[in-house]
Amino acid sequence: MKKNLFIAFEGIDGSGKSTQVKLLAQKLEKQGHKVYCTFEPTDSAIGVLIRKIFSHKMEGDHRTIAGLFVADRLDHLLNSNYGILKKLEEGYTVITDRYYFSSYAYHGAHMDMDWVIQANALSAELLRPDLNIFIDISPEESMHRINKGRENIEMYETLDNLKKVQQLYFEAFEKLNDKEKVCIINGEGNEDLIAEDVWENIQKIQ
Ligand code: ADP
Ligand code: TYD
Repeated sequence: MKKNLFIAFEGIDGSGKSTQVKLLAQKLEKQGHKVYCTFEPTDSAIGVLIRKIFSHKMEGDHRTIAGLFVADRLDHLLNSNYGILKKLEEGYTVITDRYYFSSYAYHGAHMDMDWVIQANALSAELLRPDLNIFIDISPEESMHRINKGRENIEMYETLDNLKKVQQLYFEAFEKLNDKEKVCIINGEGNEDLIAEDVWENIQKIQ
């Protein structure tokens, strides 16, 4: 397997991304890889601002949020302490829970997706994932998991919005199929079986 991969997990809310990030990291570490797991929105200053808007503690228009994610992502890549580019240079395999396809799908629900893709062009130029792994669950299953596990429902977590976001993920994969490596994995089975599916796709990376 190629060393030093950059893998992005994608999916609608509650699809099991963070569960699968953890399971993949464990497998890679067992094989002797140094692994750095990370996520967006980040926990840096810009990410914290985004989370305040999501939890309704601060006002923010959808277009403002899209812009904040552009900045959060660039900091996530370029920061000299915790930036992904630095981690890759240090020999880590980096796994991120969400990257720019999240922006295309979530903000594409409120504005022109091409604008969102263009606004993130610098991130794509700096670093494309070796593989985007989309964990696919139905919006109904997503709502079921969210309602079970949380007290507060965030801004984008409604059934209608998640249906739209799921559809926009597929539109974005189609639109960028000549540039991006994407695999789609059924996320509704047992988590260990999903992890095996993820693992098989990781082995195929050239
Ligand atoms: P995400 O990071 O995409 O929001 P999580 O990994 O946090 O998703 O999972 C959301 C919820 O669904 C958690 O309560 C988790 O335990 C549960 N979960 C994760 N994977 C599965 C699965 N394959 N089947 C059923 N429930 C799952
Ligand atoms: P996250 O904490 O990953 O939520 P979950 O664990 O439920 O998937 O992400 C928080 C929210 O941020 C989620 O609703 C998706 C949204 N989001 C965007 O709207 N744009 C983006 O670019 C990213 C990375 C996330």
